[in-house]
Amino acid sequence: MVLLNRIKTLSFLLILVSLVSCKFENKTHLESPIIPRPRTMFPATSSFVITEKTKIIIDNNSSEMKNMADILKQLIDSTASINISIQDISQSKDLNNIILLTTTNTPERVKSEGYHLKVDKDKLVIQGQENSGVFNGLMSLSQIILLNEEDQKLHQLEIPNIQIWDEPRFMYRGMHLDVARHFFPVSFIKKYLRIMALYKFNYFHWHLTEDQAWRLEIKAFPKLTETGAWRTEENGEKYGGFYSQEEIKEVVAYAKSLNITIIPEIELPGHSRAAIAAYPHLSCTKKQLQVPNTWGVFEDVYCAGNEETFSFMEKVMDEVMALFPGQYIHIGGDECPKTRWQECSKCQQKIKEEGLENEEELQSYFIKRVERYLNAHGRQIIGWDEILEGGLAPEATVMSWRGEQGGIQAAQQEHQVIMTPNSHCYFDHYQADPAFEPKAIGGFTPLNKVYNYEPIPTDLSEEQAKYIWGAQGNMWTEYMPNSSQVEYMLLPRMIALSEVLWSRKEYKDYLDFNKRLQSHKNLLQKLGYQYSKGSYKINLLTKYDTTNHTYKAEFVNEQHQAIIRYTLDNTMPNDSSLQFDSAFIIKHSCLITAAIFEQGELMRSPNKFQYEHHIGVGKQIELLKKPSLEYGGKVETILLDGLQGSSNSYKDSWLAFKGKDLLAKIDLKQKYPLNQLSFSFINKPDHNILAPISATIFTSEDGERFLEYKYEEIAGNTQQLDTIMGKFVIALPSDSIRYLKIRIENAEVTDTHNNGAWLLIDELVIK
Ligand code: ACM
Ligand code: ZN
Repeated sequence: MVLLNRIKTLSFLLILVSLVSCKFENKTHLESPIIPRPRTMFPATSSFVITEKTKIIIDNNSSEMKNMADILKQLIDSTASINISIQDISQSKDLNNIILLTTTNTPERVKSEGYHLKVDKDKLVIQGQENSGVFNGLMSLSQIILLNEEDQKLHQLEIPNIQIWDEPRFMYRGMHLDVARHFFPVSFIKKYLRIMALYKFNYFHWHLTEDQAWRLEIKAFPKLTETGAWRTEENGEKYGGFYSQEEIKEVVAYAKSLNITIIPEIELPGHSRAAIAAYPHLSCTKKQLQVPNTWGVFEDVYCAGNEETFSFMEKVMDEVMALFPGQYIHIGGDECPKTRWQECSKCQQKIKEEGLENEEELQSYFIKRVERYLNAHGRQIIGWDEILEGGLAPEATVMSWRGEQGGIQAAQQEHQVIMTPNSHCYFDHYQADPAFEPKAIGGFTPLNKVYNYEPIPTDLSEEQAKYIWGAQGNMWTEYMPNSSQVEYMLLPRMIALSEVLWSRKEYKDYLDFNKRLQSHKNLLQKLGYQYSKGSYKINLLTKYDTTNHTYKAEFVNEQHQAIIRYTLDNTMPNDSSLQFDSAFIIKHSCLITAAIFEQGELMRSPNKFQYEHHIGVGKQIELLKKPSLEYGGKVETILLDGLQGSSNSYKDSWLAFKGKDLLAKIDLKQKYPLNQLSFSFINKPDHNILAPISATIFTSEDGERFLEYKYEEIAGNTQQLDTIMGKFVIALPSDSIRYLKIRIENAEVTDTHNNGAWLLIDELVIK
């Protein structure tokens, strides 16, 4: 124990793990697939068997503690049909054969929200400093029970001999849900909270008001839900719904029982069309508008010059504060166009009266006023990062969504920050190959990208980093018309985020996570949640093996231990085609067709790769001008990987330059008689991607001094493959050459911003 306490380095821990793990085979394992991965896990001396004689003992009488005991009792009952009793410690004489949930005498090393879980022959103990710590331990125990795939005997449940010391990395672990674009009933909100709790999320950001709906009953303004909760869809159908105050109280209490605090969001001053449709006098124009049935950003917002807006907002907040006991209220603040304010005499008057510079400062005034009201009632505001514009409200917490910059600025100003950058935390983005996914809003945020997210930006000093409270996944529901789609987009990405937020940074390992995730997929299925299986897309990497002087190809994909079968002869792979295990040699140009199989079934239509065998594949290339990363791809090797850029998607398959020529030096490693050099390019003027002007080849004897060898103009000299992709071929006189330089000249600057044209080139085929 003492020794284990002192373990500081991961490597030492790993050695120890491998030494002891051999003693704990079968299900009495050391490593549990718990997600998020606990800080330390190691074997206890014995497993514990829960039977009908086992009791759950609690040592404080709080409703939270009783509720935890109930959650555990129900789980044991539903898993093994064991009906066990719950007792207070003061009534228990025999402390054998018990599961003890306790907050007394917890060792100091257990930190806030952390826990110690220990399995013994005659008891299982979960200790925390406070109930929330015990709850987190209970969620780990729940996973241990739910993930157990051994055949459990009826009326008997064996808990393996594990000991866990655990604590969270971040204190804010949030999930958001937009219930305005689409409406979800209370039953689903509870289901959403349950899966959040199982993965140790502790804040639910409930996006209750939007342009397309107001979902929260406000007694002082009944039209907010009578009118604002309903919209007429394109097909004439009425769509909507709202939560009564009784329902809200029920959900708040339910969340509390799951250790989750709800942060309601009441959007202002923008995204307020539904409220304005209900009460038109709150807008600048006072015109009667409909609740919109399309998505986007709307120009009609609350009038910031009208005192009635503020008295409305204060009365709304009075009811919101009465319903939601948490310290934080989200006031939105994002995407508020200033067009109406610019034309509104009241707004302009307010700018003058308050000595404000412009409409940005008017927005800041609006938010500060609401903040002052909420602060006076003991509450704090959270706003999207636009609240930085025109000056940050003094106490505000900033939710950074347009990347990380807002969060960085706020932390530098010593404000608390929640990271939700749309690059990593927007779960409305696609999570797998869009060609095979249900329609989503756009973007591409696969599981590994979420997993590899690091909430503390490198730009922050250690002191500033302390302002990063945590991070949150956002679920905007424009393209999630029902709860199954919400689950599908949420899972398993939320599970990846849980490990970002809870587990120590140095223990993060995507491959290990992905392995553990496999059993969680069964768990999700058991609990009745939809989830995405991720992408079945395969990519091909080609490499030149310098020791054996051969070309090798390798498939990469996102699945865990995928079975990939492939052909090289333009036939469809089937269950008996070649199975890929490691990089293989390709000797000829061919069409490679590959697909993933599960239990003998083809998972989706195969991926095809036209491999062109040529002298340049895998050879050394040095780009003498920096390419743009905007079109993705492995820029260092893409020109000589044997794979032709695609005309369907420019992403990841072309080398791109903006307003610059391509200039590259190639070392073929030995002399070859060269007959031909060719390359393809894209010509798509409406995207400012233009065919190059010319190509020049230089050669060298020593790799240092190059002489011009061949120059050709391209215009009117191309083999058009189709309207947008062209191929240019340069014939060469078979001289023996090792060192080459090539310049491909970018077209003239054409766009109005003088940024220069895009040049997209791929496969430089050398024969
Ligand atoms: C946002 O996504 N508009 C906060
Ligand atoms: Zn106005």
